[in-house]
Amino acid sequence: MTHIAHADPRSTARGRLVTLEGIDGAGKSTHASWLADELTRRGRRVVATREPGGTPLGEKLRELLLREPMTHETETLLMFAARREHVERVIAPALARGDIVVCDRFTDATYAYQGGGHGVPLPSIAALETFVLHGLEPDLTLLFDVPPAVSRERLARAVAHGRALDKFESEQASFFGRVRDAYRARAAAHPLRFRVIDSTQPITAVRGILARIVDEIAT
Ligand code: TYD
Repeated sequence: MTHIAHADPRSTARGRLVTLEGIDGAGKSTHASWLADELTRRGRRVVATREPGGTPLGEKLRELLLREPMTHETETLLMFAARREHVERVIAPALARGDIVVCDRFTDATYAYQGGGHGVPLPSIAALETFVLHGLEPDLTLLFDVPPAVSRERLARAVAHGRALDKFESEQASFFGRVRDAYRARAAAHPLRFRVIDSTQPITAVRGILARIVDEIAT
């Protein structure tokens, strides 16, 4: 027995699933909260959430995923375990209520990080996606795109301000190069769903782009 079918935006749901993606240091989390606030200001009911996480169990899995060494396959399975809880308990009910879900990372991150970054075969990820999501896809995915060098520089600045890096953030530049390439390949394969935003621009310029996107989805 599953409630997932009700979450399919192509069938009964009236809400929208908007996901934000990008390599670490692309600025996506800052933009996620701005986007959620702006949509709320425009009178939409918004659920702002994140992956891995978004549920009590998912947040526990996030702790493990961001700290514990594990095989790439285990990592992939735990990402999807957290995602299954998230869809069932948070995303599907919100979409069924007609809310806009603003989700900081979703399945594209698994294709990019575990697939592109760690070399987990893409067909294995696709099989898990089918098993866990039953065809649920974001309505809109914003890819905040920066070269790995820019991401490194931003992360180094965060470290200088006393922030500790997690397991993924501590990866080499070559890893982020592969993750970025995988994200861009996803965007090229799904051109109607993705918007690629040049995130080397100043925050105000990116906000200008987001403001136009808000105009499209708030109505
Ligand atoms: P991130 O979204 O960057 O959070 P914060 O903004 O708080 O730093 O951190 C989540 C990390 O998890 C990020 O490095 C990417 C990684 N990740 C995957 O590797 N696969 C996934 O499927 C998801 C959702 C995240």
